[in-house]
Amino acid sequence: MAYNYITAEEAAAMIKDGDTIGMSGFTAPGTPKAIPAAIAKKAEAEHAEGRPFKINLFTGASSSDRADGNLARANAINRRAPYQNVPDLRKRINSHDVHYSDRHLSEMAQEVRYGTYGPIDYAIIEAAHITPDGEIILGTGVGNIPTYAHLAKKIFIELNEQLPHELHGMHDIIMLQDPPHRPAIPIIKANDRIGSPILKIDPNKVVGIVKTKYYDGVHEFTAPDEVSKHIGSNVVKFLLSEYKRGGIPKEFLPLQSGVGNVANAVLYDLGESKEIPPFMMYTEVIQDAVLELMKKGKCTFASTCSMTFADPTEEKLFKDMSEVKDKILLRPAEISNNPEVIRRIGVIAMNTALEADIFGNVNSTHVLGTKMMNGIGGSGDFARNAYISIFSCPSVTKGGLISNIVPMVAHVDHSEHSVDIIVTDQGIADLRCKDPIERAYEIINNCAHPDYRDMLKHYLEMGKGQTPVTLEKAFAFHNAFNETGDMRNAKL
Ligand code: COA
Repeated sequence: MAYNYITAEEAAAMIKDGDTIGMSGFTAPGTPKAIPAAIAKKAEAEHAEGRPFKINLFTGASSSDRADGNLARANAINRRAPYQNVPDLRKRINSHDVHYSDRHLSEMAQEVRYGTYGPIDYAIIEAAHITPDGEIILGTGVGNIPTYAHLAKKIFIELNEQLPHELHGMHDIIMLQDPPHRPAIPIIKANDRIGSPILKIDPNKVVGIVKTKYYDGVHEFTAPDEVSKHIGSNVVKFLLSEYKRGGIPKEFLPLQSGVGNVANAVLYDLGESKEIPPFMMYTEVIQDAVLELMKKGKCTFASTCSMTFADPTEEKLFKDMSEVKDKILLRPAEISNNPEVIRRIGVIAMNTALEADIFGNVNSTHVLGTKMMNGIGGSGDFARNAYISIFSCPSVTKGGLISNIVPMVAHVDHSEHSVDIIVTDQGIADLRCKDPIERAYEIINNCAHPDYRDMLKHYLEMGKGQTPVTLEKAFAFHNAFNETGDMRNAKL
């Protein structure tokens, strides 16, 4: 089949107000880079003429400033799911310009297949290569594109000439059958391959190919600060003590790790530990720190949905993929984050919280209970189903004005039942095999900042019942911050 090569603007011209678009990718990698910006420009032009123009945009996870940022600034998004992390889109979500459906990433593809999100008008796929009969080598992130491509009425391809054809063989592409016809997912070890190295699409649905030449645009991470380093070393201290007591088997268990400063600090410390044996990762995103672990022979394999490497790392890697070729599998989100697999292979999950309460509930998404930060992402997929679920955060934020350990979280993403271990820069709280009051003392004594410990104990000791919550005081910390700018002024 001979494809039609077009410009991003020509692609955007075909998209109509109200269309629903499913895009490839997971974080910036794999996310289309030219057409979303062209759609944003079209939206601005339409708005200038007084005409409405908004699309519904579904992805695998967050996308990028090129996509979400441009579209948000142009006020071109009506409905967005399942995750985002771009400041300009965050503003639109919190001002209700965008209807944001914050979903567990593992569930999105199945829900779309069952029709919950309506029909998909266009899929936009970033590709390293496409054959005339519709065989695609995807880029460095997969997301939900097998499902979007299958359901879409029409498809645009962004053929990114920066992507090396050596990516061929690094993908493990499959679209699950839906219940009640789904067989067991045969992943017993993180490196078991179950799908195809290519994404097969119907070539007749391709309405145009846009050529691009971009790296993914991921910034280099700054070196971890002191607080992150303390958190990182506490997480590794916990893993080591658990390993030594036999709570983790001698071959170790696969790790899931979030992104950001703390995750980098944890991975760095794991690399330095002589006592922790080489391990695999079963995770949704890998960053540069994982490459370093691979070089050291500490991480032997990573199953992921995306290689979120900074541009200079990509530049080096794209010249020679041999270092990673047989050490990484890129899978769709419904596999990388699949609860069945996570539980079966015994993943140790490490995620970040905004705040945790003294009983072990975690808020990952809503600043002071009301403002959406990013979304739950894959944290729920992993935390709920992990063998051990660890949440970490600094003990205080904004120079101590905010305690991240509070009497009651102002929004619950992960309940006390899904949270095993809390780690801050102060120390480690092991919540397993403890009742609510024991958990509260463990968290206050080991994880809360010293400035807040007596206040939290006072709150705990005024309560009654198995979980001694005092409803009229439960949000005293949050109220004090809203009223005075300092949680230390809480009236208990
Ligand atoms: N109350 C109010 N504000 C808080 C806060 C609290 N308890 N804790 C942090 N903040 C503020 C910080 O001050 C910072 O504000 P700023 O942007 O004005 O500087 C902001 O929230 C982000 O905090 P930071 O400590 O930099 O967060 P992070 O980069 O470590 O991310 C999460 C933390 C929870 C937002 C992030 O991990 C996330 O989105 N998690 C959900 C998704 C997920 O876990 N996915 C799975 C793994 S990839």
